[in-house]
Amino acid sequence: MDFYEVVKMRRSFRVYKPDMPEKEKIERILEAARLGPTWANGQPCSYIVVQEPENVKAIWEAVGQMQKFAEAPMFIVGVVSEKASGTNSNGEKYYGVDFGICFEHLILAATAEGLATCWIGWFNEKKVKEALTIPDKYRVMGLTPLGYSVKSKGEITDRKPLEKIVHYEKF
Ligand SMILES: Cc1cc2nc3c(=O)[nH]c(=O)nc-3n(C[C@H](O)[C@H](O)[C@H](O)COP(=O)(O)O)c2cc1C
Repeated sequence: MDFYEVVKMRRSFRVYKPDMPEKEKIERILEAARLGPTWANGQPCSYIVVQEPENVKAIWEAVGQMQKFAEAPMFIVGVVSEKASGTNSNGEKYYGVDFGICFEHLILAATAEGLATCWIGWFNEKKVKEALTIPDKYRVMGLTPLGYSVKSKGEITDRKPLEKIVHYEKF
């Protein structure tokens, strides 16, 4: 898939087939996340591949959105070290930005591999950390189910038009 095709085809998928994604595909999408740019190349992100059924179940419980989702076979949980990132000249911490860039690399790479994802930001961080023995000093900033979608979705249509969001020269 060409890059712009990938961008158009990435959607949030919430109903998954039980089939486990292939190991090579998982490795390629993790590699795409690894190559993401970060503040001063601090590389503060890490990823937990969750495939054991009891761990997958624990993540679903921490997400608590089962009414919306049908179970996926696995998750990738994104972790970031605040300390390994930076603070910008306005005093804003950048670990969330670092995380967002790298996790979106992962999500787009999954799309290019024909896999379905759904970025999840609403979850109980404490429960996820307990389930996966993540030390306190790390933050869990996002996670995604990974698998094959039961249904395909078309291209994105529900976005503001460019003329509403682009300004030339001045706001
Ligand atoms: C940072 C972030 C957090 C999100 N958290 C959730 C979530 O907790 N649960 C959910 O069902 N979707 C979540 N989404 C998916 C958005 O609802 C979705 O991206 C948006 O509605 C646009 O739809 P699309 O991804 O299909 O283009 C999240 C997306 C982002 C980028």
